[in-house]
Amino acid sequence: MDPSVEASGDRFNQTDRYHMLLDVVQNRKTVRAFAPGTIPSEHYAMILDAARHAPSGANAQPWHFIVVTDPAIKERLGEAFVQEQIRRARLGMKFPTPNYRGMKTAPGLIVVVGDFRFIRAFPVLNDGSELDRRYRENAERILVQSVAASTMLAHLAAAALGYSVWWVSAIGQDEIQREFKPSLGVPEQLSLIDIMCFGPPLQAPYKRWKKRLDQIMSVNRFNAANFLTDAQVDQWIKEERARVMYRDESRVD
Ligand SMILES: Cc1cc2nc3c(=O)[nH]c(=O)nc-3n(C[C@H](O)[C@H](O)[C@H](O)COP(=O)(O)O)c2cc1C
Repeated sequence: MDPSVEASGDRFNQTDRYHMLLDVVQNRKTVRAFAPGTIPSEHYAMILDAARHAPSGANAQPWHFIVVTDPAIKERLGEAFVQEQIRRARLGMKFPTPNYRGMKTAPGLIVVVGDFRFIRAFPVLNDGSELDRRYRENAERILVQSVAASTMLAHLAAAALGYSVWWVSAIGQDEIQREFKPSLGVPEQLSLIDIMCFGPPLQAPYKRWKKRLDQIMSVNRFNAANFLTDAQVDQWIKEERARVMYRDESRVD
């Protein structure tokens, strides 16, 4: 075959593939209330088969996923989050609180488990020194990034199957770990990192505000125009955060 035809044909296919990916990426939307329904078991397998292919530091794959179908466990998990929000409000955290009741009836719920022992697989000295402490901090970041990479693939796979998704990170708190590890049969050495809820949305999901490309992209050198001062960051948290968390992008100016 003429190499130029082959090359352009290839480019066309790659562009097509990119647009298919971007369609899934752009249509992944968070919802926090789902319509009732049941997730077919093959969808769990398809979603976690995507997660399995994620990259990870040292290819350690320090993740495990627990599919929760038992309504009683969902109810208890949801209630623990409702209580956690009440605790945060009492502590004066002023975080715009999501409504966690929707977790109790989410058709799909997967608990994401991480194995922090694998930080030893990343560059660390393991000699208890100050230098070791700094390397370990970075190794922890590598581990969390790895689990996030795999979780992200699961979310995209769920979005590709037409589901709305909900990434819940607030499970990291000690109390929730202590309460739920035994009921989920998770060994003490492992950590509950996130919960992924998904299903058909109760109401049409909305697209949230995203930064423009020029706001996140620099070439060779960080574009100073996109640098925020500490005061601007504080102002964003005070004035913008709640709007971008809970509103359609068309309603955020
Ligand atoms: C690492 C991470 C942690 C998150 N934690 C929570 C959470 O604990 N509770 C929650 O309601 N949403 C959580 N979210 C969802 C975000 O609020 C949501 O992704 C964001 O508002 C953007 O909306 P979008 O997902 O529709 O683009 C989390 C998302 C990520 C990626």
